[in-house]
Order: sequence, then C-alpha cells, then structure tokens
Amino acid sequence: MTYIVNDKCIGCKYTDCVEVCPVDCFYEGENMLVIHPDECIDCGVCEPECPADAIVPDTEPGAEDWVEFNRKYSELWPVLTTRRDPLPAADEKDGEEGKFEKYFSEKPGEGD
Ligand code: SF4
Ligand code: F3S
Repeated sequence: MTYIVNDKCIGCKYTDCVEVCPVDCFYEGENMLVIHPDECIDCGVCEPECPADAIVPDTEPGAEDWVEFNRKYSELWPVLTTRRDPLPAADEKDGEEGKFEKYFSEKPGEGD
C-alpha cells in the first residue's frame, strides 16, 4: 500500500504535506507534487494536511491509476522537503474540475 497525490494538487501545490512526511518522499513538478510509492511508509499523516484533499491511499476507488503516475514523476522530479508558498492561484483552482487536461505540466519544479 502507498499514498498518492492526484490531480487535485495541480495548480495549488500548498506543500503542507512535505512538512509532515517522515521519510521525505514528495517530489516536485512545476505545478504539483507526487509521492514515491516505494519510499512512502503508509503512515497517513500527510493526508489530513492537504487543504485540497489531493492525498489518498491507493485503496480508494480510482487511486490505483495514480500509483504508476506518482512513481513515474517521482523518478523525474526533484525532492521537496520544505514548505513554501502555494501557487498564486491556488485558492481559485482548489476544487476545479478537469485540472489534469487544463494545467498538468511535465516540467520539474525547483525542489530544495
Ligand atoms: Fe510521507 Fe506518510 Fe504521506 Fe507516505 S503517507 S507520503 S510516508 S507522510
Ligand atoms: Fe499538493 Fe496538497 Fe501537498 S495541494 S502540495 S498534495 S498539501
């Protein structure tokens, strides 16, 4: 089992999650984060920290499709361990439908 980040993170990137992860397994894209499924220890402490409800266990319906996505990009993007300001339009984009098609970027974030 692992936790994953889904498309609700896109365009928000609140980063509250990275502060609480005991194993630093969040990786940063230009406008979202992902979790490395092989590094996550399934502690669950990040799930309630996300204001966008973007973090779920892979046992939730629909989450299994996101596991390989999280693995793929966690191997391409830099680790992020320190909280930073959310993206400028985070509150506007929180809860918006169809964010993957509209905004997903494969570009890496800056990491830390
Ligand atoms: Fe990190 Fe725990 Fe969240 Fe996994 S479930 S990403 S180990 S805080
Ligand atoms: Fe994204 Fe939520 Fe973390 S919006 S950056 S998964 S706190």
